[in-house]
Amino acid sequence: MIISSQRHLFSLPRDICYLNAAFMTPQTIDMIAAGDDGIALRAQPWQVTEGGFFTDVERVRALYAELIDANANDIAMSPAASYGIATAARNIKLEAGQEILVVEDQFPSNIYSWRRMADEQGLEIIEVKRPKTDTWTNAILAEIETRGEKLGLLALPAVHWADGGVIDLVAISKKAKNIGALLVLDLTQSVGAMPFSVKDVDADYVAVAAYKWLFSPYSTGFLYVAPRHQNGVPLEENWINRKGSENFAGLVDYVDEYAAGARRFDVGERANFSLMLQAEQSVKQILSWGVENIAETIKEKNKTIRDIFADVGFRGCYAPEQTAHILGVESDNELSPAFVATLREEGVRLSVRGKALRIAPHVYNDDKDIENLKMALGKALSKS
Ligand SMILES: Cc1ncc(COP(=O)(O)O)c(C=O)c1O
Repeated sequence: MIISSQRHLFSLPRDICYLNAAFMTPQTIDMIAAGDDGIALRAQPWQVTEGGFFTDVERVRALYAELIDANANDIAMSPAASYGIATAARNIKLEAGQEILVVEDQFPSNIYSWRRMADEQGLEIIEVKRPKTDTWTNAILAEIETRGEKLGLLALPAVHWADGGVIDLVAISKKAKNIGALLVLDLTQSVGAMPFSVKDVDADYVAVAAYKWLFSPYSTGFLYVAPRHQNGVPLEENWINRKGSENFAGLVDYVDEYAAGARRFDVGERANFSLMLQAEQSVKQILSWGVENIAETIKEKNKTIRDIFADVGFRGCYAPEQTAHILGVESDNELSPAFVATLREEGVRLSVRGKALRIAPHVYNDDKDIENLKMALGKALSKS
């Protein structure tokens, strides 16, 4: 179902045509208000109850789980994708000489931990090059076929952050399982905007930063840890992850046991009051729009935007049938500084990546935004 414009829920100025959800989504008025309630709590600490440390977090954990078709027990609270990936890396041991597969120009939060691990364990990182005509999926499947059991781990996204190239994780997971390779995902650029089920993909770990497609505050997010890895070692040893930490009077009766499931991997001070209330509001909003509906709605907008750019000589970075919630368009010519500056002056907000533009609309973009984009593009081209 296509979602009609939800602009009324936000406070977006009319002269801004915001097409940069892949950078950071704006929050709704209700999400901001939920955060304000949390901030107000800090003026009166005596109002901070145990709920603020435990039950609020558990509600958010369950909502994150729902987004990816997992159980709340399998979710750890993590402040950044890099934190989740580092947790995964800390718990993976491969054989010297094995390989880790990534894609070209992958986001650094899903690279640096692997580089460290490669140094420490004597591994090699294999980078799949951006395919010229074929899909990312076929390029990755071919690489798995070639490398076979030498490949110990695939560290991938579902959508390329820079230009929206889609990767079919169900197909890749099947093939990875055949050779016994682990699968660690950074789904920051897709959870909330593209349906995903851990039941279909059976990843080992899934890291998500929530300030983009989940409309959540900066420094919130989660790590899915498959049940088979839940006896691992967390990045830090914090008091609240331990069994029985609800009993504040008994905190110095130190225990070796952790709280159940993936909770042992929770970041310290996970119960950041205002952030949790905002995160709850934002994920509830996503679930009420429905991820499938969001995906369909954004795709539709991107088809229109793609046509607008095609009329002025840009082409999509991928074939039209691969258009997802992030649209990359490129031109044969360098983008002149005047072109980029005029788009900005005219209120259009998107990302520039070399000769390509990254466009990421959402449910708040309406027909007037599309009109504004057309006009701005006309002006930008006439000045370049
Ligand atoms: C694919 C991807 N992962 C992660 C992030 C953010 O990483 P972190 O949460 O480690 O700051 C971004 C930000 O642009 C991204 O595009």
